[in-house]
Amino acid sequence: MNATIVSKLSCPICKSAMQMDTDGKVCRCNGARTHCYDVARSGYLNLTLPGGGEGDSKAAVQARKSFLGAGYYAPLCDVLDEMLSSCNAKSVLDAGSGEGYYTNRLASGRDVLGVDLSRAGVDAAAKYAKQTGSGAAFAVGSIFSLPVADESFDALINLFAPCAESEFLRVLKPMGNLLVVGAGERHLFGLKEILYENPYLNPGRADLPTDMKQIDRRRLTYRIEVEGREQIEALFSMTPYYWRTSESDRAKLEAIDRLKTEVDFDIFLYRKGQ
Ligand SMILES: C[S@@+](CC[C@H](N)C(=O)[O-])C[C@H]1O[C@@H](n2cnc3c(N)ncnc32)[C@H](O)[C@@H]1O
Ligand SMILES: [Zn+2]
Repeated sequence: MNATIVSKLSCPICKSAMQMDTDGKVCRCNGARTHCYDVARSGYLNLTLPGGGEGDSKAAVQARKSFLGAGYYAPLCDVLDEMLSSCNAKSVLDAGSGEGYYTNRLASGRDVLGVDLSRAGVDAAAKYAKQTGSGAAFAVGSIFSLPVADESFDALINLFAPCAESEFLRVLKPMGNLLVVGAGERHLFGLKEILYENPYLNPGRADLPTDMKQIDRRRLTYRIEVEGREQIEALFSMTPYYWRTSESDRAKLEAIDRLKTEVDFDIFLYRKGQ
């Protein structure tokens, strides 16, 4: 794990700073009673406390890996890359990094740490980082109690994962930036038109920051054509509709092997004060 990232970590138990053993296999805190964390074979650290929750399952991680890996959301990654560059963000924390699609792709020229509660997601993300040499680091941890020091990151990204404003304010440097992404009102409308007789527009994120200043808002919309049953099912399983669609409505989706739909991302940029 990159030394700059290790220097930003804090022990989830006693909040002390951490350091890596020279063999790179164990990370220890500098607290009065040293706490030790083994580096997993794929290269991540587990920095959760017992009973800290589960995060996404292996199946959900696999679906996201398959769909995102096909590049359907690559234009979103390009916009985030450009926005982080224009903020001159050299250190970035991805809060709720999932299987690391964006984290790994945004790590070029930056120190990037992805944190997620899902061990399966973090493991997949770390494996990808190892295979490709992306340079991104990963830890299992909670968005609401991030295992990093106060004022340690230039920027945070928070995509389709819970937004924890007070915790984000703690870990951002003064004048640090927060990018939050949610579904725009017409996101996946083509999918909903197949599933439902009267599809509604998405309501937008209800958990946006209230104490930070919004300095930019962008809308990214384009059309995608999802090829094949497997990818359509993977996309469907990434949506909230997966859990609340009746068997008969699901059957409509099962009958197609090509899906044309709009994607619509709402991208918000917030800045912390001095
Ligand atoms: C919809 S996925 C988005 C993943 C990734 N940001 C993306 O856009 O591909 C939501 C992620 O948030 C994670 N998550 C949910 N609650 C969390 C929490 N309290 N702390 C850390 N991660 C959490 C889940 O495990 C899951 O990986
Ligand atoms: Zn400790």
